[in-house]
Amino acid sequence: MSDATSPVDVSGVADRLDAIRFETGHRRPRIFRDWTILMVSALARDDETYNDRLDKYAPAEDDMEQRRELATAFSEAFGELVIAAREAERPVIGDVYEQIGAQADDFGQYFTPWDLCRLKAQLITDGRNPDASQDEPMSVSDPTCGSGRLLVAGAKRLREQHPDTPVVATGVDKDATCARMAVINLALAGVPGKIRYGDSLTMEGHREWVIDPTDTDPAVREVDPADSEPDEPDSDLQTEQAALSEVRTDGGD
Ligand SMILES: C[S@@+](CC[C@H](N)C(=O)[O-])C[C@H]1O[C@@H](n2cnc3c(N)ncnc32)[C@H](O)[C@@H]1O
Repeated sequence: MSDATSPVDVSGVADRLDAIRFETGHRRPRIFRDWTILMVSALARDDETYNDRLDKYAPAEDDMEQRRELATAFSEAFGELVIAAREAERPVIGDVYEQIGAQADDFGQYFTPWDLCRLKAQLITDGRNPDASQDEPMSVSDPTCGSGRLLVAGAKRLREQHPDTPVVATGVDKDATCARMAVINLALAGVPGKIRYGDSLTMEGHREWVIDPTDTDPAVREVDPADSEPDEPDSDLQTEQAALSEVRTDGGD
């Protein structure tokens, strides 16, 4: 059982990403970004994007051995992430981001601490939704979702309160790496939903992913954002959405 207040140990992930950095000579933000691209494309069974990204490090025609080693190193970092998230019983990719990004000037995002996410989720949802039914999913939304922590905390809380009601999470972030982190966090937490890489103010959408952890192959699908408008909040949950949005200002952005 994890201690909610203890820091999460993500050193296994950070060490593997650092090994890739030493091997390739690229900076941490780039390694981290490309790792998220590789992971999301692997979850989505998108071989083209996966191979294109690996080509940027080790083109297939140059050195297959080096390419294989690199692919293995990236997936080992993912394996460490899965282990760390399972042990901590919470989303942890934001912790990796903060830990390895803190040393880069242009990589300085910080997310709402997990305990605060849980507290907010509790305050916002407790005693609400008395009419929750099996037929209509409840939604949690975060228009500036970062790594998706708040979405996971909200979805978990709603599930605890209404175990028979499906929960769907929707998030938007204008930073592509954050949007991919949210995709990964939802997939690992088993929370279905939709994440858009876009701007919540201008309603612009660049890319979008649907996460369906019950559909294991693929658990993630990329869809055309033009085909899907961001979900309207449930009227019952508008206050929750507003409150969830408020939390981002606590995150130091
Ligand atoms: C402090 S983080 C908070 C993330 C998350 N809500 C949390 O609690 O951990 C703020 C996030 O808002 C995103 N953001 C800022 N303006 C945005 C906009 N107009 N549309 C979408 N995302 C935005 C940033 O990229 C950043 O990831």
